Amino acid sequence: MLRMKGLILSGGYGTRLRPITYSQQKQLIPVANKPILFYAIEDVIEAGAKEIGIIVGPNKEQVIETVKSKNWDAEIDFIYQGEPKGLAHTILVAEEFLDDEFVMYLGDNILREGIVEHAKRFKENKYDASIMLTEVENPQDFGVAELNEDGTIKGLIEKPKVPPSNLALVGVYFFKPIILEACKSIKPSWRNELEITDAIQWLIDNGYEVGWTKVEGWWKDTGKPEDILEANRLILDDLTPEIRGEVKGEIRGRVSIDKGTKVNENSMIKGPALIGRDCLIKDGYVGPYTSIGNDCEIINSEVEDSVVMDGAKLINAGNIVDSMIGRGAVIEKNKSLPKGGKFVIGDNSWVRI
Ligand code: DAU
Repeated sequence: MLRMKGLILSGGYGTRLRPITYSQQKQLIPVANKPILFYAIEDVIEAGAKEIGIIVGPNKEQVIETVKSKNWDAEIDFIYQGEPKGLAHTILVAEEFLDDEFVMYLGDNILREGIVEHAKRFKENKYDASIMLTEVENPQDFGVAELNEDGTIKGLIEKPKVPPSNLALVGVYFFKPIILEACKSIKPSWRNELEITDAIQWLIDNGYEVGWTKVEGWWKDTGKPEDILEANRLILDDLTPEIRGEVKGEIRGRVSIDKGTKVNENSMIKGPALIGRDCLIKDGYVGPYTSIGNDCEIINSEVEDSVVMDGAKLINAGNIVDSMIGRGAVIEKNKSLPKGGKFVIGDNSWVRI
């Protein structure tokens, strides 16, 4: 077992996931019925961390409550950042905790293969820092690495307009405590954040050894709604079927249904699909790549390729596809007069009918 601490980032505002993130911290949004943050905690524990610091921001109570609702095989501390002033800023905020080698894991990233092999390479090579890279089609949306001819890192640049390569930085970094000096030495970027890419560049410029490993399996930064749906599809591809509910309708493919959930005889569930506890599926169709949380109702409605969160209801709602439905949200056909759509929707919501 490797010895290192874990720093997991669960602060920030998640503006690109509004309106969901008005009421729910981004890293707590469920993917395959599990908060995104839990995937990060599991990976860090699997890599050997026994002490984890979680950076919390504006919605700190939610994060603390959700993390504490589970028993983890590690000691977890919460470190308050306040305003999100950059990834390198979180390291400064966590200075007291970071007295040893550590892995920093962005709490909105999900990686299929975990980080064990990457952690081993960092330790074996005794690097001062090690980053993880993967080829992407849209490097301008990420931190990007430029390599020397011998394959070592020449430089890093954050969200470049003209990317020097298609190698994006994955949101997992291994550091020795020297990174603290780097974070103290850099200045805020044009977006007024202390960038981790600048801190790593400082290490390179000052002669420290920065290694890298390649991510071969899928990786998802869940910044936007379509990323959440894509991550949900990727996780459901590996779903283990298990029926614990009371099912009278037809089940096709890999489906998991938790206890207390009822599926009536006129319903069909087509996997891969995941349905939580105490739901009611009545005369409904749940199609492939759908995750439905706890206490939901799907009545005379069809839903496919979607994430439906706890307590949501779809009643005579027609056919819903590619959607994120927030907690307790209701979509129901209007039967009263005057006819037409009636909406009570939050700020920055969008409805495509
Ligand atoms: O996901 C990989 C990318 O993550 C890298 O390629 C980039 O180099 C890196 O800068 C980062 O870019 P993002 O634009 O995706 O970072 P974002 O601002 O979304 O922050 C990542 C996570 O860290 C997110 O879950 C919120 C949290 N965070 C962010 C900041 C700026 C904090 O907890 N505190 C902060 O101050």
